[in-house]
Amino acid sequence: MTEPTTTQTGTPVPSDAHSLTVGADGPTVLHDRYLVEKLASFNRERVPERNPHAKGGGAFGTFTVTEDVSAYTKAAVFQPGAVSETLLRFSSVAGEQGSPDTWRDVRGFALRFYTTEGNLDIVGNNTPTFFLRDAMKFPDFIHSQKRLGDSGLRNADMQWDFWTLSPETAHQVTYLMGDRGLPRSWRHMNGYGSHTYQWINAEGDRFWVQYHFLSHQGVEAMSPEEAEKLAGSDADYYRRDLFDAIARGENPSWDVFVQIMPYEEGKTYRFNPFDLTKTWSKKDYPRIKVGTFTLDRNPQNFFAEIEQAAFSPGNQVPGTGISPDKMLMARVFAYSDAQRYRIGANYNQLPVNQPHAAEVRNYMHEGQMQYKFNPAEHRVYTPNSFGAAGGPTADPVAGAEASWESDGELMRASATLRADDDDFGQAGTLYREVFDDAQRARFLDVLTGQGRGITIDAIRERFYQYWTNVDAGLGEALRQSVPAVEDDLDKELASL
Ligand code: HEM
Repeated sequence: MTEPTTTQTGTPVPSDAHSLTVGADGPTVLHDRYLVEKLASFNRERVPERNPHAKGGGAFGTFTVTEDVSAYTKAAVFQPGAVSETLLRFSSVAGEQGSPDTWRDVRGFALRFYTTEGNLDIVGNNTPTFFLRDAMKFPDFIHSQKRLGDSGLRNADMQWDFWTLSPETAHQVTYLMGDRGLPRSWRHMNGYGSHTYQWINAEGDRFWVQYHFLSHQGVEAMSPEEAEKLAGSDADYYRRDLFDAIARGENPSWDVFVQIMPYEEGKTYRFNPFDLTKTWSKKDYPRIKVGTFTLDRNPQNFFAEIEQAAFSPGNQVPGTGISPDKMLMARVFAYSDAQRYRIGANYNQLPVNQPHAAEVRNYMHEGQMQYKFNPAEHRVYTPNSFGAAGGPTADPVAGAEASWESDGELMRASATLRADDDDFGQAGTLYREVFDDAQRARFLDVLTGQGRGITIDAIRERFYQYWTNVDAGLGEALRQSVPAVEDDLDKELASL
């Protein structure tokens, strides 16, 4: 026998299908409590989508440390043999909730470790760099990728206007227009913390660290033609692929690697390690393996566990921390602020956001939707005179934070480039030395298409100059290939 439907307070209801009315065709009565409750609940189903990274999907799994990196960090999650639950959410950046997965974009790679010392979130992408080096430009960048104010349309002019006026974007745009902009699936991507973070060992020694998550499935791309077709035929292609693979027991997995830079070398390394547009050479700082994680559990409820997941680069644990990267410091504020608005004041009490292996103890309480509370004898203030029963006391040793030396003067300046560095050098190296011939040919095709989408001459001229700065031959090739559309059209018209 099926169970009876009930109201939200557990009382059986008389009908799933019929409102209470005066006669069969008469007015609906307001005291049909269940109808009113059902409609009211429906009206409140949507919460604001993430701005950005609205479209995504994710799954749970387990991370196991297979190597010994205790010389670099004391974090419990990275000690030899440690096993932690994980949550990974993949996403696109610019598109809305319903947007096709296979629009060209950078992909989000937000990884949570539920550690014994609280949640550690590495909220990264499938690229090791980013478009910007100062948070002040982030909202403008996202606006340029989303939609025009008047027509509500996406627009190549504004994307290229912003990019070509912001030369620090060149490295990341080279990734975006290359194969990484169209992964074969979320399973076939590497993830990167992208920023420089800090690790601290048990002796208090500090290191700069970059996280790399390398896919066991391999890194594969799809062609623009296939992506375009899928955008029409299966807008949820990546979400479906991940869910179905895990349901079939094909659990995707990744190795966790780090690049480690001794603290002092941060001051002199040939690229500023706190400039998010730069990578560290693997020759200078080889990848060191830490362990492996596998995704093996699909969400049981997409909304509760994925939509309401609230990641933040500010979620660090003892032995890990942030660095003086201007983007990263701003992100520590931005995420929890967004989540208080998007989900609500007590978003961290939701099962997906609560630490699983650590306890929450503090003097914050009340607010909308609070349901976890402190023991009755626990005071609501500190300091208090009631010792251990009165509540927790902060421990400066257990809670020791990452730190760095600072110049101390307040100023507004660009994260400094080293004397022999510029905005285009690493992008040029990526194009010439990392891409192979086939990738370079695809890259030219993609950029040709992008250039043809630009309708304003001054922006198109800057587009040529931007790519000439990355590689003179590439700029020249684009000057030849982009106008071909008009030539073709002219030829066609002439032949009529
Ligand atoms: C100052 C720069 C940035 C700001 C202000 C910013 C802000 C935000 C905000 C407000 C969200 C939505 C959070 C939510 O509602 O839950 C978000 C999501 C996200 N951001 Fe950023 N972001 C910045 C840079 C970056 C960078 C550099 C990366 C990658 C290296 C990144 C990766 C992500 C990812 C993966 C998500 C989705 C997280 C999820 O799956 O829930 N963001 N960002």
